[in-house]
Amino acid sequence: MLSLGALLYDKIMKPTEQACLIEWRADLLKGVDGKVLEIGAGTGASLALYPNNSSLELYLAEPDHNMRSQLAEKVNASNLSNVAILACPSEAIESEDNFYDHVFVSLVCCSVNDVEASLQEIKRVMKPGGRFIFLEHVAAEEGTKRRKWQGRVNFLWRKLAGNCHLNRETEKHIKQAGFIITEIKRESMRKSMPLVRPTIRGIARLS
Ligand SMILES: C[S@@+](CC[C@H](N)C(=O)[O-])C[C@H]1O[C@@H](n2cnc3c(N)ncnc32)[C@H](O)[C@@H]1O
Repeated sequence: MLSLGALLYDKIMKPTEQACLIEWRADLLKGVDGKVLEIGAGTGASLALYPNNSSLELYLAEPDHNMRSQLAEKVNASNLSNVAILACPSEAIESEDNFYDHVFVSLVCCSVNDVEASLQEIKRVMKPGGRFIFLEHVAAEEGTKRRKWQGRVNFLWRKLAGNCHLNRETEKHIKQAGFIITEIKRESMRKSMPLVRPTIRGIARLS
């Protein structure tokens, strides 16, 4: 992401965070414990919402230097004690196999270069009984006006918004990767631009 985009990120997202994202993140993260990987942790929007358990081992992966430096500042200011910051992308996670109890992504699958490779990596690093927790903005329903506009604007939007794709069919990709979605909610992301409003959030497992 351009350094200006990274600098303004929290400011731009604040109304949306307050309108819905903080509540959704908190709900998704309330039960996490053990070894947890957040991919594309950005500026640390979810950091304050992790339970402060001594048994929590948090790994935050963020490949963008400008986002990662803000993330590091928030980690230093937090009272979480067991946190490691990684610079790896989702397509090549620096981890042994079957390591994490939970893998979390929020607003990341839209931006990765290779969503299929990323999901295979998540499968590889998750323990067999682990949970993949996702909160993503996605393609609108096929045949709708919104979906048509997502397609028309996508190229330009990607250039302006750090490779964010407006029309990723993330739910389909998660299932095609071999995950079983055990919980899913579909909701409009309030106080955001109409083309990024459709979202999914929930839990996927390997068995
Ligand atoms: C829209 S921001 C979301 C940040 C944060 N997860 C949040 O919820 O506020 C997208 C993030 O995904 C990161 N990202 C982009 N491509 C990535 C990749 N291949 N692997 C991991 N993270 C990636 C970006 O650097 C950016 O921090």
